[in-house]
Amino acid sequence: MDAIKHVAALLLALLSTADALKVDKVETEDVTLDCTALSDKDVTWLFNNGTALHYEKGGVITPGKGFEGRVSVEKDCFRTGNFSLTITDLHSTDEGVYRCFVDQDTTEGYPHTYKLHVNKKQDQTDSTGTEASDYKTIIIIIILALIVVILIIGISVLGILYHKACSQIQKSVPDNTQTSETEHMPLYDNTTPANNIAPLIELSVQESNTMKPDSSVKTFYTAG
Ligand SMILES: *[C@@H]1O[C@H](CO)[C@@H](O)[C@H](O)[C@H]1NC(C)=O
Ligand SMILES: *[C@@H]1O[C@H](CO)[C@@H](O)[C@H](O)[C@H]1NC(C)=O
Repeated sequence: MDAIKHVAALLLALLSTADALKVDKVETEDVTLDCTALSDKDVTWLFNNGTALHYEKGGVITPGKGFEGRVSVEKDCFRTGNFSLTITDLHSTDEGVYRCFVDQDTTEGYPHTYKLHVNKKQDQTDSTGTEASDYKTIIIIIILALIVVILIIGISVLGILYHKACSQIQKSVPDNTQTSETEHMPLYDNTTPANNIAPLIELSVQESNTMKPDSSVKTFYTAG
């Protein structure tokens, strides 16, 4: 009888793998294979033709060979009907077909069959994983560095231009007063007749007294 059961189970397994849910994982990752069922007796997770986990109500959770310390179901699964299997730290040898049964393998849980594929860790990281993201971060860092350099250059150029403009204004202000004085100077130097000097001096004095732009220039100067 047991042999017939086994053959029947194997045949069922072969048939059910056709519509098995495919799960892709990477070595050392964890996986949870969902399964709900109604049972207050036992649950068995089959792995290929062996057992991944067996748990009888009132008993202890028994891991299958090679799954010691890495498989679990919720302790209150008989109350909740949640018989999901969690496998931690996946090995490449965990790859295969998983099936969820209750009541001594007579009743299938839902979903029932999973086909787990465990990818090698090196394959993943070497091909696309870290290298692509590394290039991206390097490019982003270079772009950010360029932006910072451009900003620094721009700010310093603006600062130099601003200082130049300021010093030009500072120079031009006293220059104007000087030139206005020197404009009068040639008149002295030109050895013009003495009687012409007196009114010119008077004029220049009057001008400097009445010239209010002088005071306005001063206020601009202090403001600068
Ligand atoms: C499971 O199948 C393998 C071959 O795929 C076989 O060697 C092994 O004996 C089988 N185990 C059981 C318990 O039937
Ligand atoms: C069943 O339990 C698993 C593992 O604890 C959990 O990830 C899953 O969300 C649960 N499912 C439901 C329907 O509660």
